[in-house]
Order: sequence, then structure tokens, then C-alpha cells
Amino acid sequence: MSDLITIALAKGRILKETLPLLEQAGITPQDDLDKSRKLIFNTNHANINLVLIRSADVPTYVQYGAADMGIAGKDVLLEHGGEGLYEWVDLHIAPCKLMTAGFADKPLPSGRLKVATKYTSITKQYFLEQRRQVELIKLYGSMELAPLVGLADMIVDLVDTGNTLKANGLVPMDFIMDISSRLIVNRASLKMKNRAIKQVIDKIEQAVSEPADDLKQNRVLL
Ligand code: PRP
Repeated sequence: MSDLITIALAKGRILKETLPLLEQAGITPQDDLDKSRKLIFNTNHANINLVLIRSADVPTYVQYGAADMGIAGKDVLLEHGGEGLYEWVDLHIAPCKLMTAGFADKPLPSGRLKVATKYTSITKQYFLEQRRQVELIKLYGSMELAPLVGLADMIVDLVDTGNTLKANGLVPMDFIMDISSRLIVNRASLKMKNRAIKQVIDKIEQAVSEPADDLKQNRVLL
């Protein structure tokens, strides 16, 4: 019998693009992940389970082997540091950009900038390279609010359509990096459950390289 493989999936925007990819790879959950309040899901494969968690927690579950594999954004992986796991392949889903953003018409202070973000590690590195002194303010979401209420001069956040910035009177400023979702694998699981893990990786890699027409359409429409 095949080893049991647990795949950690991120709730939210990535999930919408992850499910069609898994479907294309022949992995179908037995419940509706979008609607259910459950956290562990069976699939059409007796030896493949899915767990559904906050995106920032996906690398942690995979690092400790609580999940053998996972799908997580590059943003989250960089913040985590990648200990105990392999970043296997770029799935080219949930693409967006990490950017600085602020007010279009308000000059930035010449001294220390106050920057609000959930990506403190990437942001620290970015401003170090820019040789700009900053005070980082760690937030866990809704970063766009920070400049509006005077908590920060600018933010570092993911930008997809740009609608959230626009709705809050902010504009994207400097590009930091492109972000997309990656397949990650626990290092020990790859050794101990090699055959079963490789089978799942192969299915997913094939789905990435040969997306079905409807999958291609999904990616454009979502
Ligand atoms: C992300 C990001 C922005 C928004 C960008 O938030 O933090 O707020 O999406 O997308 P847009 O450019 O298409 O408007 P998300 O909804 O993932 O939730 P979060 O606030 O928890 O990060």
C-alpha cells in the first residue's frame, strides 16, 4: 500500500487557482473546500489527504513534516526562510507583484520612513539594498489602512489588480519582486516516502506543463 501523503493548501486567493490545478493533476477533494469548515479533506486517492490552512502557516506545516507537501506563495516562503523543505517547482499560479505603495501627491519624509507590512523580512532586505533607513511596522493584513490613519508613510504589499490600492486612494510605487505559488516538499518525506511523493509531484508537474484548455481559461478568468 502507498504511503499516506498530506498536502497543505493555503486558504484564500491561492486556493481558487490551486483547485483547478489539482483537478488537472487528477486529485479531487471529496468535499467543497470553499464552503466546508473542515480542515482535513479526503480525496479520490485513498492515500492523499489535503489540509487547508492560513497561507503563512503552509511552510511551517511542511517544515515539520505535519504535511509532506504544500502549495505556498513565494512571498510566504521568503518570509519563512525555507528551513526543512525543498522549493520544488514554480506552479505559475496566483501571480502578483510585491510593491511599495503610498500617496501619489504627498512627498515622503526625508528622514526615517515608516513602512507598514506583513513582509518584514523581505522589506528589511529591500530597504537595506536601497540604503534607506526605515522603521518597520508589522501588520497581519489590510496594510492599505496604515497610511490613511497616519500609522505609516508607505506600505509594502502584494498588488494584483491594483483595485485595493485604488479604492483606498493609494498608488503602487516601486516594484520589489514578482510573486507566484510554489510546490514545496518536506525534505525527510522526500526520502522516506519517495515513491508516493514522486508520483504526486509528477502528476502536478504534468498539470503545470500541459494545462487543459479549461484550466488555461480558468487561469485567465480568475
Ligand atoms: C491581498 C493584498 C492586497 C490585495 C491586492 O490581500 O494584501 O490587499 O490582496 O489585490 P488587488 O491588487 O487585486 O486589489 P488579501 O485579500 O490576500 O488579504 P490580506 O489582507 O489578508 O493580505
